Amino acid sequence: MGGCGHAMTALPDRPRLAFMASHNGSNMRAIVAACRDGTLSADPVLLVSNNRECGAMAWAADHGLTTAHLSAKVTGSEDALDVAIAECLTAHRIDLVVLAGYMRKLGPRTIAGFPNRILNVHPALLPKFGGRGMYGNFVHEAVLSAGDSVSGATIHIVDGEYDHGAIVAQAEVPVEAGDTPETLAARVQAKERELFPETLRQIVARTIDLDTPAKRPSAPD
Ligand code: GAR
Repeated sequence: MGGCGHAMTALPDRPRLAFMASHNGSNMRAIVAACRDGTLSADPVLLVSNNRECGAMAWAADHGLTTAHLSAKVTGSEDALDVAIAECLTAHRIDLVVLAGYMRKLGPRTIAGFPNRILNVHPALLPKFGGRGMYGNFVHEAVLSAGDSVSGATIHIVDGEYDHGAIVAQAEVPVEAGDTPETLAARVQAKERELFPETLRQIVARTIDLDTPAKRPSAPD
C-alpha cells in the first residue's frame, strides 16, 4: 500500500455485486434482472440493509441473494457498523458496491476498503439538489420549488461526503406542469432503472473507467 491508500484493483470481467438499500430497492431489482437475463455480465451476491423489514430485504432473499441486516443498533456504534459493513463486503469477495436507495452515510473504513468501487444513485442532476438532507422526496420537492424544467438521475462514485464523488453518468427527465413530488419521483425512478444497469454494462465493458474520471464518456441516453 502506498501513500494514496489501497492500490486500485482491476475489475474482473464478471464482477461480484453487493447492494445496499434501506427501502424498496427498485434499482437493485432492475440490476439483478439485467444480470439474470444476461444483459449485464455480473453476479449479484449480497444485500446489506439497515432496515430488516424493508421490501428490498424480502425481495433479495426471495431472489437468491445473501442478506445482511447491519445497523448501528445491531453493532453498538457507528464505528463498529463501519467495520462490520467493510468485513461483510470483503468476506463475500465483493468487487462493486451499489447503493440502491441506501439512506445512511458510509463510514471511512468501508470507503477506504473499496476505492472507486462504490456507486450511488441520486434522484436529481448533481451537483444540484445534493448534500445532507437531500434524499428521497425531499429532492423532488426542492426541484419543484426551484421551478426547474428538467430533473434526472445521477450515478456517482461514493466518497466521504454526501452526494459529492465523481459523476459517472446522468440522464434527464422533464419536469411536467402539475407534477407533485410523487409523480416526479416516479418519472425519475423509471429513468434510474434504465440508467443504472446501462452504466454498469459500460463499466463491465470498460467503456467507463471508474479509476480515470477524466476519461469518462458522457452519460448514456
Ligand atoms: C431512489 O430514487 C434513489 O435515487 C433515492 O432513493 C430512491 C430509493 O427508491 N436515493 C437517494 O435519495 C439517496 N440520496 P427505492 O427504495 O424504491 O429503490
